[in-house]
Formats: sequence, structure tokens, C-alpha cells
Amino acid sequence: MQMERVLVLGARGTLGGQLMKLYPEAIGWDREEVDVLDFAALRAKVGGLGFVPDAVVNCVAFNDVDGAEDRPEQAFALNADFAGALSRYAKELGVPLVHYSTNYVFDGSRGEYAEADRPAPLSVYGQSKLRGEQRVAEPGGAWYVVRTAVIFGPRGASDLSKKSFVDLMLDLSAKSDTLQAVSDEVNSVTYAPDLAAATRDLLATLPAPGIYHATNSGEASWFDFAREIFRIAGRNVTVLPVSSMLFARKAARPPKAILLNTKLPPIRSWQAALAEFLGR
Ligand SMILES: NC(=O)c1ccc[n+]([C@@H]2O[C@H](COP(=O)([O-])OP(=O)(O)OC[C@H]3O[C@@H](n4cnc5c(N)ncnc54)[C@H](OP(=O)(O)O)[C@@H]3O)[C@@H](O)[C@H]2O)c1
Repeated sequence: MQMERVLVLGARGTLGGQLMKLYPEAIGWDREEVDVLDFAALRAKVGGLGFVPDAVVNCVAFNDVDGAEDRPEQAFALNADFAGALSRYAKELGVPLVHYSTNYVFDGSRGEYAEADRPAPLSVYGQSKLRGEQRVAEPGGAWYVVRTAVIFGPRGASDLSKKSFVDLMLDLSAKSDTLQAVSDEVNSVTYAPDLAAATRDLLATLPAPGIYHATNSGEASWFDFAREIFRIAGRNVTVLPVSSMLFARKAARPPKAILLNTKLPPIRSWQAALAEFLGR
């Protein structure tokens, strides 16, 4: 189905920015245009468009995993309550909604998770994203929850847009030639332009509503990821594997949460995507 005038919320974030590139006719809003927590303002803005968008893609989220432990109300307001309201609204408009969730809805005890596997989040962030999944599904419209993990890519235009691990590592390597990286947390890894393309394909084909997993193929600990970044970037940095116990953080993370993609076409390996990103 032809989708052109897609409404992207969180358009200046890492993923939102890539969606805006893929859809030249998209309407992209971020905090500067509308605070989505003011739902009446969002409705008024959509009403003011003078047309109904072809689809809504929600990239807005409370993404501060550790911060969510201290500010659960804020995390639930954006990741769950807003997501649910948006799903009801998309149904009312009669358009599909794509919403994103995370591998942190799983506790990591099984290591690999298919779409239908039972979530058991360890953190407030994971709980708020899981509640969001449920709220998005409830109204029963054309809803798509796309779970993803560890996004990297060109930085979003927003100042607060989460700095990706690739940027962090490259910044740190300018100051030190020996770095430590956690080797006992393993995730799927996702290149934002590839996730944006998978989203476009999803909206072009409109499969059955439900939960989908979209990440680059493969898996990586933070140690694996860091080593590959420096190998591809040609930087002579020694990366030392360390236990997550060494980094005290507020929120618990799953030791291994790989998202198995059993429903969508497979996406290239994260190493191939990383090489493209780093221009190699
Ligand atoms: N990044 C990851 O590693 C990762 C991993 C798993 C899942 N995900 C999920 O993937 C999706 C996209 O993530 P992302 O990394 O692209 O996020 P991001 O870069 O943080 O972008 C989110 C955007 O939403 C905006 N926003 C936040 N609150 C808002 C509000 N109340 N009103 C209007 N705009 C608001 C942010 O603006 P400000 O910057 O001004 O706040 C930001 O531009 C999210 O659902 C996230 O939970 C991400």
C-alpha cells in the first residue's frame, strides 16, 4: 500500500530522523512542535493538517533506562499511557500505528526471544515499555509494536537524542587508548537507517497487527561491539572485557536478550551495517 504522508512523532530523534529521510512527504513533529503529553494539543495539530495522515509512527519515548528508576511516573506516562492514547486515536482515524519497544521487556534468562515469548522486565524502563505494548494492542486497530535493541546511527537533531554507543566509544577513544567494555551483557544491535527501512516495508505490506522484532542480525556484548567499532574505524585501542558488576547502574539489565525475528524479512548483519555507518 502506498504510504507517503506518514506522521512521525519524535522526528528529531535517532530513528525519527531516519524515517524523515525515507519519507520525503512525511509530517515530522518533535517536542518543539508539540508536547505529545498534551494530547489535546496533539489532536488539534493533527486536525489542523487538513488531511488524515496515511499512518502514524511513534518514535517518542522515555529512553533513560537508569533515570526511569527514579522517575517511574514520567516513564509510564510517555511509554505506556501516551502510547495507548495514540493507539486509540490512530484507530479512530482509521490509520495504522507503528510503535517501538525494546528487548529489555525480557529478563535475559533464556537468551533468545521470539515475538510470542513471555516478557518479564527487570527494570522500570522495561516495565513501562511492556505496559506500552499492551496499551497499544488494546484498542484493536492496525497496530504494530516493533521491538528493537541498541540503536546506533547518525545522531538525531535533538540535543537530548540519545548518544549511541558508537559515538560514546569514538569519543572515549580520543582520550584514552585503553577502554573497558562490559562482556556479560549481550544484545541484538540495530542500525537506525535499517530499522527505518524495515518500518517502511512493514507499512507498505501491512501484515497482521501484532508484535514484530526488527534488529540487524547477529548479537554482541558491549565488548564485542566496542572491538568491532575500533577494528572498522582503524583505531588502535585496547578494549578490556569487564563484568557488568564493575559498572554500578541503577537499573538491572538482562544478561542476554537477543530478539529473534521470525516474522519479517531478515536484516543484514550489524557488522555490515556498522561498516557502512563508519564509511568503510
Ligand atoms: N535507542 C535505543 O538504543 C533503543 C533501544 C530499544 C528500543 N528503543 C526504542 O526505539 C524508539 C526510538 O528510539 P530513539 O533512540 O530514536 O529515541 P530518541 O533519539 O531519544 O528520540 C525520541 C524523540 O522524542 C522526543 N520527545 C520526547 N518526549 C517528547 C514529548 N513529550 N513530546 C514530543 N517529543 C518528545 C525527543 O525529544 P527530546 O530529545 O527533546 O526529549 C526525541 O527527539 C523508542 O520507542 C525507544 O524506546 C530505542
